[in-house]
Amino acid sequence: MKEISLSTKLKEYETADELPKEYRLLLDQARDAIQESYAPYSRFHVGAAILLENGAIALGANQENAAYPMCLCAERVALSNAIMQHPGVGAMAMAITVHNPAKMINIPAAPCGSCRQAICEQEGRQENPIALILQGEEGPVYVIESGKDILPLGFHKGYL
Ligand code: THU
Repeated sequence: MKEISLSTKLKEYETADELPKEYRLLLDQARDAIQESYAPYSRFHVGAAILLENGAIALGANQENAAYPMCLCAERVALSNAIMQHPGVGAMAMAITVHNPAKMINIPAAPCGSCRQAICEQEGRQENPIALILQGEEGPVYVIESGKDILPLGFHKGYL
């Protein structure tokens, strides 16, 4: 038996003002995308913005449904938009942010497990990492180099 420890790394910026300009603008777009969030059930609003290799931006916001399991996360809405609007163009970075009217979220908003899986699938498809820029409504920002960094031991096509 041997013990294996898994670790990850990320960059923390104290505020969005310290971010490289293109990431700061992407985060602004993710915040704007929250306007299209439809979250009457959870009242938890999520926005995502993807920067593509051709410079285009694809947006997403969570879309809920009275049949709760049908809810679509912002990240996967943005990924679907990117793929359909810009076929074959790789994604370079995705910014994610949230708004919860019930309380101020001042820690970075990390994607759920299913979205991590979807981000990793796209990384495998384009053979390039997607940087993640995560912020709550305010406060510090995490920049993560690849979806893989936050999905240790993820399932991937290599198993099939
Ligand atoms: N949600 C996202 O949009 N992305 C995530 O990564 C986590 C959760 C949405 C789904 C649902 O509409 C609401 O947030 C509460 O779970």
